[in-house]
Amino acid sequence: MNIRLSRSIVGDAEAQAVRRVLIEDGYLGMGTEVRLFEEELAAYLERAPDQVMAVNSGTAALHLAVQAAVEPGYEVLVPSLTFVASFQAIGAAGCVPVACDAREDSATIDLNDAATRITPRTRAIMPVHYASNPAGLDATREFARKHKLRIIEDAAHAFGCRHQGRRIGSFGDVICFSFDGIKNITCGEGGCIVTADPETARRCRDARLLAVQNDTQVRYAGARSWDFDVTDQGYRYHMSNIMAAIGRVQLGRLENEFGPRRVRLAAIYRERLANLLDLAFFQNNPEDEIIPHIMPVRVLHGRRDTIKAALAEAGIPTGMHYKPNHLLSRYGGGKPALPVTERLYSELMTLPLHPGLSEDEVGHICAVLRNALR
Ligand SMILES: Cc1ncc(COP(=O)(O)O)c(C=O)c1O
Repeated sequence: MNIRLSRSIVGDAEAQAVRRVLIEDGYLGMGTEVRLFEEELAAYLERAPDQVMAVNSGTAALHLAVQAAVEPGYEVLVPSLTFVASFQAIGAAGCVPVACDAREDSATIDLNDAATRITPRTRAIMPVHYASNPAGLDATREFARKHKLRIIEDAAHAFGCRHQGRRIGSFGDVICFSFDGIKNITCGEGGCIVTADPETARRCRDARLLAVQNDTQVRYAGARSWDFDVTDQGYRYHMSNIMAAIGRVQLGRLENEFGPRRVRLAAIYRERLANLLDLAFFQNNPEDEIIPHIMPVRVLHGRRDTIKAALAEAGIPTGMHYKPNHLLSRYGGGKPALPVTERLYSELMTLPLHPGLSEDEVGHICAVLRNALR
């Protein structure tokens, strides 16, 4: 067995789509394929097409979303337990990421802790759907209403998931997805911003193309902007036709192929590793339908490193999502302390999960892990 922690699952259909762009379309930049991908994403997310902006990474999506929704210099509440991309995106927009503690049951933002970190400069909250779990989203919306904050969802893990029957991205203020190489769907690299707020959408749409005003519409008409104005800071963050062509195929494979496969493999993990003294899973709300992007578990009682080593010895790679950001030099170097996050950090271990794994392989991983824990 050659087990990988995660991987891109692409095949002939994606290769054909890329070939179509390379050979037939003859324009590799941002054009028809990106427009069609945005339209298909919008249909999937039950949104109007002008509410979805494709970009070249999830980090770019978060950066543009924060820049469009929050003035520079203001604070954004964000769980420390997230990929450094969330923090870097807030900082790139000239804002200040304020690290918050995590809930023990879901590793998502602890709103009680977040409430203690509100200042007159707080303008937004960035919940992270850790391991695809939108836990606490309703409470976050209530919290944001009460404190008059924008909500920028880091939904990098949560493409295709449903919260109480509604797809993540089909409702809410600003939602950012990632389509990097190992996400629920991939474009190679990529991401998108979703929002119903016309001004936020306009600012994101322009800023992905160096803030050249209305350049998207010009490109979709197969032309170029020669005479234009710029009022905002912009970036080269647009998606290419090659990326979009891959994404369109992947989107078509999510519901019947990738989604059920990830759900099934995660269920096997939960079933075979149930009721072990030193192992705990994060809780998903039964009313949510989750397509798990990663499979983190907690190894309790100080055993994480030895268990991780035993799995490595057996050829089973594991990960750790994530090193908390407040421990990084740039974001406080451990101050202030976030006790739950730090405890979770000492326990976290991510097991292999991707649609290319077989049920036998997951069964084997469970057997090795159970044996190591015995
Ligand atoms: C929680 C989280 N936020 C943001 C990102 C950034 O997405 P990307 O890698 O597409 O830039 C990731 C990607 O791994 C992520 O896991």
